[in-house]
Amino acid sequence: MLPSDDRTWENNDVTRRRENSERLEAAAKLVVPGGVYGHGALTTRAHPRFFESGTGAHVTDVDGNELIDFMCGYGPNLLGMGHPRVEAAAERQRRKGDCFSGPTARWVELAEALVERIGHADWAMFTKNGTDATTLCTTIARAATGRRKILVARGAYHGAAPWCTPSDAGVPAEDRAHLLHYRYNDLESVAEAVARAGDDLAGIMVSPFRHDTFVDQELPTTEFARGLRRACDRAGAVLMIDEVRAGLRLARGGSWERLSVDPDLSAWGKALGNGYAISAVVGREDLRDAARRVYATGSFWYGGVAMAAACETLAVADEIGLPEMLTATGQQFRAGLEELATANGFSLRQTGPPQLPMVLFEGDTDFSLGKFFTGDAIDRGVYMHPYHNMFLSAAHTPAIVAEALERLSGSFESLRRYVDAAGPEGSR
Ligand SMILES: Cc1ncc(COP(=O)(O)O)c(C=O)c1O
Repeated sequence: MLPSDDRTWENNDVTRRRENSERLEAAAKLVVPGGVYGHGALTTRAHPRFFESGTGAHVTDVDGNELIDFMCGYGPNLLGMGHPRVEAAAERQRRKGDCFSGPTARWVELAEALVERIGHADWAMFTKNGTDATTLCTTIARAATGRRKILVARGAYHGAAPWCTPSDAGVPAEDRAHLLHYRYNDLESVAEAVARAGDDLAGIMVSPFRHDTFVDQELPTTEFARGLRRACDRAGAVLMIDEVRAGLRLARGGSWERLSVDPDLSAWGKALGNGYAISAVVGREDLRDAARRVYATGSFWYGGVAMAAACETLAVADEIGLPEMLTATGQQFRAGLEELATANGFSLRQTGPPQLPMVLFEGDTDFSLGKFFTGDAIDRGVYMHPYHNMFLSAAHTPAIVAEALERLSGSFESLRRYVDAAGPEGSR
């Protein structure tokens, strides 16, 4: 076995400045619990923790290293950072004001835009983060049905609130008492969970595809999607799709429209404002009354700037035919990685939709290959993740993807040398 600690990539032959990032992290640890917490800490020691600036598909860390970024802020940067039209729309609104005692006209414009593009949407409500949106979905489902149980897929991430956070720390069992699990793409496990919920089933939440961390991504079978719809219809429960991560990259409207399966509610976030804090819940007519009755608000939830950014993001996405564009560059990236891996004697598992690339090394159960590879890639100016799905933006042009692949050919070669130097014990 190769060592799986986070510093193995330092054995490569490229160096990069890291002093500022490490100094800031040490300083943060004194004044912020854990220093950097949350998804930014999900990476390895090789990944810079702090960033200085970004444009399009490139980010620059606090040490001045410029990187082609395949994480896109874990999703929000849909059109690329600092998109001129989105920034201009945000700036126009910022000059007028952002935070009032009520919404701006952007509230109506954005709701109209979502209702127009998402098949099952007859109305929209706005929040700030994805967690707000998924949590609001469960509240509406419970208000509508007068029931308590919510089904989620085992291992799926729906946010950081007590009902869904992956950590048990600080979470009383009561907060999850009405959560039941099924397995993605497994209708038998859905039927079992539905039976356990009995006459208390409020709703089923599902991701457009399985995009859990650490494991292969999995597209839903049509049978699974239709089975969930049927299960909800039979039980009088609410089907909720969590579009927070995948939304807008897979389709212009709802991600399951291609399967002819409409949910009752869906949660949107991340990409919606191209980096501005905005999320949304959209739903069907028969849930409008329940949505009206729940108490949903936040000091910043009326903010006009993020809504102006979102309206423009949607307009630009339509003009450039976004999902098709991302599919093409995603396929280019996938094919290029495959070729480089094979040329260097590695086998990759690239799963799920190419717009959200997931790249794992075959047999790499402790992610030691992935950690070395992504560490080395950062040294060569490509920011990738060893075990989380990545994201493409419209700013990842074919030329930029080709440039990234060129740099990554060095990382595959470096990994080959590293594995060979480790001898038969470390060979794959
Ligand atoms: C599928 C999914 N749902 C919900 C969330 C929570 O969103 P946020 O981090 O904006 O609260 C995320 C965040 O990664 C997500 O990927």
